[in-house]
Parts: sequence; C-alpha cells; structure tokens
Amino acid sequence: MSYWSHEYLLRTWGGPMVQAEFLKEVQKPFFVPRIFSGLNLFLDKAGLLPDAVDLVAKECKTKRAFIVTDEYAVRYAPKVMGPYEKRHGIKFEVWAKAKPDAPIDTVKDCARMMRQFGPDLIFAIGGGSSMDTAKGAWLLYEHPDADIEILSPLVPLNLRNKAKLVAVPTTSGTGSEVTGIAVISFPDGVKLGTGGALPEFVPDFALLDPTLTVGMPPQLTAGTGGDALAHAIDGFLVPRADELNQAIALKAIRMVFEWLPRAYKDGTDLMPRIKMQQAAMMAGIPLCNAGSGISHALGHTIGGLYHIHHGAMVLLFIPYELQVYAKATDRYLEICDVLGIRDSGSAAQSLSNLIAKIRGLMAEVNLPVSLQDAGISRSDFAGNLGTILDQAPTDPAFYFGWFDLTREQLEDLFMCAYEGRLLDMNSELWR
Ligand SMILES: [Fe+2]
Repeated sequence: MSYWSHEYLLRTWGGPMVQAEFLKEVQKPFFVPRIFSGLNLFLDKAGLLPDAVDLVAKECKTKRAFIVTDEYAVRYAPKVMGPYEKRHGIKFEVWAKAKPDAPIDTVKDCARMMRQFGPDLIFAIGGGSSMDTAKGAWLLYEHPDADIEILSPLVPLNLRNKAKLVAVPTTSGTGSEVTGIAVISFPDGVKLGTGGALPEFVPDFALLDPTLTVGMPPQLTAGTGGDALAHAIDGFLVPRADELNQAIALKAIRMVFEWLPRAYKDGTDLMPRIKMQQAAMMAGIPLCNAGSGISHALGHTIGGLYHIHHGAMVLLFIPYELQVYAKATDRYLEICDVLGIRDSGSAAQSLSNLIAKIRGLMAEVNLPVSLQDAGISRSDFAGNLGTILDQAPTDPAFYFGWFDLTREQLEDLFMCAYEGRLLDMNSELWR
C-alpha cells in the first residue's frame, strides 16, 4: 500500500525543512484544546457558575452526541453522559468497538455509525486507540471519501463542519487528548500518524478526570507512562521545540520521574494518578507543537510488527535518540539540570548519567531495556531486519529529528537495541 509518508517530495524536502532549526522562528503556532482537569468535571447538578458541562454542551446544538470508546472504557460512559443528559437533554449513541492501534477497518465502522446517528459532538473516551479511532472516524464522518493513508501534512482536513471533538482520557500516556495526531494502523502492519496541514485533530475540549485512570493495571501504567516520558524528551530535543514547548516538556519530564514509580506500585493511590495524568497531557503539547523524535519512528516500526506496547517500545529507543541527537545539540544537559544529575566537568558523563537514570526508571517499572527483553526472538528479528530498515525511515516521526540516519547507522542502532548495548559514538560509523 502507498502512504503519504512514502511520497518522494515529502521524503526529500519535508525532512530537511522541519530539521532546519531556524525555521521555528519564522512562525510559531501553538495549538491546545480547552483543557479542564479535576475531580468534579461530571456533576449531575448545575452550580452557581457555568462549568465544563455547560461550556461543552453549548457546542451540541442538535442535542445528539456520539461516544467512541472500547470494551474496557465503556464503563465510564454513564459517568460522562449523565450530566449532559440530565442538565442539557442531550441524547447519546455509544460505539464501544475501538481496538488497540486503531485499525482502519474499525475506524471506518465507527464512521458509518456516526453517519447514521448524525451527532454534532463526539466524545472519545479511553486511551490513545479510542481517541485516535474517534479522530479518524470524525474525518470520515465529515468527508466520507477521504483516504486516510495518503493525507499528508500538506492537506487541510476541513473538519468541524459537522461536529466537534471532546477527549476524555482514561490512561496517562498518549497525550492524544491534546495532540493533532491520529495514529491509525493498516492491514500490512504499518502504523501511520496523520494530522493534516494544521493540527486540526487537536480536540476542542480535553476533560481530565483522574478517577477514570484509577485501577489501571501496573504494566499499562508503566507503558503509558513510558510513552509520556518519550513524548516529553522528544518534544524537548527536536529542532522545532521553542522555549514555550521546552518549558512544558521539562516540567513533564520531572513529573514522570517523580510520580510514575508510585503510580506503578499502587494503582489506587489518587495523587500519583493526578500527577501522571497532568504529566502525560503536558508531554502531549510539545509532541503536537514541536514534533516527535526518532524514538517514535523506530518504536512504531517494531511495535507495529510485533504488537508490543507503544510506550514500552518508544521509551526503549530514547537512550539511542539521546546519543544520536547529542551530536547536534547539547539540550540534554538541561534535562540533566532539572533531574539534578549534570556532571559539572563532563558533558559525556552527564549524557551517561541521563541514560542510566532513564534505564533505572525502566527497570523500576519493569519495562524492557532491549528488544530481546521485550520477547523478540533473535532469528525472527534477523529475518525481519530488512523490512524494519525499509520501513523505519518512512515513518513521519523520522522527519522531526536533527538529521537523517543512513541505512548502516540504522542497522547498527537496531542491532544494539536488540541486545540493549549503547551505540559506540566514537566508531567510524557515527563520527
Ligand atoms: Fe507516543
């Protein structure tokens, strides 16, 4: 199948354009939804002043709203719907068939149901897959003939003629509640991020109730938290990250280190849930407005092929991203400062400290440090390496880094990642 990220012009010109750091000074758009966080977002009774329910309901003129969710998160639908039904007389249709990685078939099925019901407000309740399914279905609801696989960042999506989008996350990691990106998967194993010319997929509202994340299983807490950390580090390091995005990313990095181990150990402890929900949302902002790094290109490729949790995969590649980007930028030193691990005499030692700190967190929350740890067999990996090397550079996340990697460098990186060895940056290949 052909995807937008395979187009010759985008591959040859798109990368260098976004890799040019000076371009971030030409124009600095900054997109975020209207964000409400807290424990009382879904009150059945109106208060003295308008609240989130009133503001969101104002956008639902037809009184018809559609919920996109999955078989787990559908349990939260009554809590979300209740106040809108009781206080504003809005009627809901619930579609609870979202699947992990948002396969295109389920996106199309969801869009069909949306067309039958005709809502002007869409609620996405769940993790990244539910929110991304909702975004894709929203596009096909507004434009039934759109081809998601070829929608490049040069094409306006022209959304919001029929409906607006409200994101209600139930995990803390993908940041999809604030990003203009939908990652959809296709039958040939490709997972493709798409968002159009402007990040039109940025939801109109993000409603963050931490109680919806209570009780997440430890491994899901770890994986989604790993995704949040990868977004924050990517969003801080990439060339397009300006000061506004960097400030948000740095705070999110610090929060993940502080709160993820506690959220992992006790899924019922509310304060770590509150903090991780905030950190994941904050990390999504630079991801949307500055871009993601090679961690995501490499992680998407392996995760799509072996169906390993996205967050576990992208965090696994962060130490390699840090090593590679350190050739072009010393921004990693600021992350060391925030974490209190900068070596005053040696930048190289600071980088080692940072990688050790990240891998220490991975070990603490039981995330794999190598592809071997992640359960991929050596022979299977060797057999797929050619496909992996073909596919990784076509991932859109590849364009946001500081420079392109050669096929030989990529091969070395993947082989090191298989065993968890760091790159030898003094070798001929990387100098
Ligand atoms: Fe991610």
